[in-house]
Amino acid sequence: MAARVPGGVTLPTGRVAAVRDLSREFGGRTVLDRLDLEIAEGEFIALLGRSGSGKSTLLRALAGLDDGTEGVVTVTGSVAVAFQEPRLIPWRRVRANVTLGLHAPDAGVRADAALAEVELTARADAWPLTLSGGEAQRASLARALVREPELLLLDEPFSALDALTRMTMHHLVLTLWSVHRPAVLLVTHDVDEALLLADRVLVLDGGRIAHESPVTARRPRHRDDPELVSLRSALLAALGVTAGGAA
Ligand SMILES: Nc1ncnc2c1ncn2[C@@H]1O[C@H](COP(=O)(O)OP(=O)(O)OP(=O)(O)O)[C@@H](O)[C@H]1O
Ligand SMILES: [Mg+2]
Repeated sequence: MAARVPGGVTLPTGRVAAVRDLSREFGGRTVLDRLDLEIAEGEFIALLGRSGSGKSTLLRALAGLDDGTEGVVTVTGSVAVAFQEPRLIPWRRVRANVTLGLHAPDAGVRADAALAEVELTARADAWPLTLSGGEAQRASLARALVREPELLLLDEPFSALDALTRMTMHHLVLTLWSVHRPAVLLVTHDVDEALLLADRVLVLDGGRIAHESPVTARRPRHRDDPELVSLRSALLAALGVTAGGAA
């Protein structure tokens, strides 16, 4: 069903978001330059790009957190964001953090269900500062999930975690995605993470989507899958990384 959002464009069937001609400048410096992007319902996208290329800026625009952009951002349905740092409020217990800003009468029940899904039931009454890094990220995911988003924006949510916890989180995110089927836009610096998780990998460069690779390998994926091996080289080249390091 086509949808229309005030100030936006009519989205074709099956799209949850569209960005047209999106530009953003900071102090006269162009970070996003007439960027176009469409996100399909239920699609898992990974967004790569060098540091400072504008990934978080694009995410903030999609989340409606930036009123300094030019162009059109249309999003149908609800959006939730999880950031690199879990951004839990220290003086509220985990459950209260999950329900923060949620005014539904069944907010507590929904929070408990979300906490169960991320396997954090045992820490529902804990204070955020007593959580491990992985637990805090799971709480942050529960807070996003409880909003039942149609578009889930994840800004490097695993980058501060150790390798083992990160693998557990990959598995968890894929499980949650397959159950709830939101569209996901995951910002990451990690090409392998992008290839293991996403249906489509984008590279942001020069203020636009400079490279795009669909990933068709079946999940669960393995790093040595021939498709992933060849995509890895293409993506590293698009990121300007050569065998000797950054170009
Ligand atoms: N509020 C702001 N004021 C001034 N400059 C900003 C602001 N927000 C972002 N920028 C600049 O815009 C550029 C893009 O920032 P952004 O945070 O989107 O990059 P990024 O791709 O997410 O980088 P990283 O991978 O390091 O997180 C950077 O040069 C940054 O300094
Ligand atoms: Mg960023």
